[in-house]
Amino acid sequence: MGTPKNIPYGRQSIDEQDLKAVTDALTSGWLTTGPKVAEFEQAVARMSGAAHGVAVNSGTAALHCAMYAFDLQKGDEVIVPPMTFAASANCVAYMGATPVFADVDPETLLIDPAEVEKKITPETKGIIAVDYAGQPCDYAALRRIADKHGLFLAADGCHSIGGSLNGEKVGSLADITLYSFHPVKHMTTGEGGMAVTDNSEYDRRMRIFRNHGITADFRQRDGWFYEMQDLGFNYRITDFQCALGLSQLSRLPEWVARRREIAAMYDKEFAVLDGLSPLGKLKAAKHAYHLYVINLEGENRSDKRKAVFDYLREHGLGVQVHYIPVHLHPYYKETFGTHEGLCPVAENAYDGLISLPMFPLMKNEDVMRVVETVKAALTEVSVR
Ligand SMILES: Cc1ncc(COP(=O)(O)O)c(C=O)c1O
Repeated sequence: MGTPKNIPYGRQSIDEQDLKAVTDALTSGWLTTGPKVAEFEQAVARMSGAAHGVAVNSGTAALHCAMYAFDLQKGDEVIVPPMTFAASANCVAYMGATPVFADVDPETLLIDPAEVEKKITPETKGIIAVDYAGQPCDYAALRRIADKHGLFLAADGCHSIGGSLNGEKVGSLADITLYSFHPVKHMTTGEGGMAVTDNSEYDRRMRIFRNHGITADFRQRDGWFYEMQDLGFNYRITDFQCALGLSQLSRLPEWVARRREIAAMYDKEFAVLDGLSPLGKLKAAKHAYHLYVINLEGENRSDKRKAVFDYLREHGLGVQVHYIPVHLHPYYKETFGTHEGLCPVAENAYDGLISLPMFPLMKNEDVMRVVETVKAALTEVSVR
């Protein structure tokens, strides 16, 4: 028997159909800003139940485009959860505005609408909800708050593409929804992202912003004239990336279904195991399971997490921790005066979190190996 192979926490799936799609695009004559970009935008928007899609070269760029579309100004405040990747809050800082952290629900680790209400000031302009791990937030409650205070509602759906809430698709639950197509996500374009929206003015503004603030696309500039109307960026994505994205999108439903099967296997095994609990689920939500997160219970959770994490890594599982609460990063402390104790629920949860391997190519025996290794880790750590 050789050493068992490593199982990462996430991995892309690339097949022959993807390779053909990319090589066809590479030889089509359009490398960027061509027909595959528009086709990909329309396909993702349709799948999301939204009217428009703006494809860009990362999820972070999509978040930045959305903040521009909302016309965020210096001094404005935007409410964000701390339990997310830094980009969800950084996009607010890019605009010279201030991210204000509202704590999460202890069961689901999704932004807590009651905490959002507490953080509203006359400067608040909007809310960015993050569908942590792949579970849509309580958008009905967030919408009520947004409407009451005249705020925008953005959904960071980088974890939740393919999910839904009360039968309504992720992509149709907020004013603008953002996706990432990084390789660890549900589907990939290498690097890439998209903003989807029903609002044609947001769509127009995001298209301008991703192209330096210039009004016309390159292909429309038959002559020499174009106009830069605002300061934008080059956030364009290539045609061959979008060709890959289109090919991947065709397999998204089966991939999300497989993620749910894997989660159900983990849930069943962990339900009878002492010492850890999976995250809570909203009844109304259909989870897309970008991540499968466990929370260690008991005393000294931080030390226990380190020991379990190290054990799992030593035994070939590429586990991760999602996330160090954003407000605890030095940049946030120094720039926005955030500090320990600001979001106690997220800080307490962080001490015990571990993300286990979760990707559609995992076989049932891989899932069971993860389960057995976690069980062994809990026993080892408790006897140490
Ligand atoms: C919740 C969340 N938001 C935003 C991003 C940024 O996406 P990208 O890496 O494509 O820029 C990520 C990626 O890790 C993410 O997990």
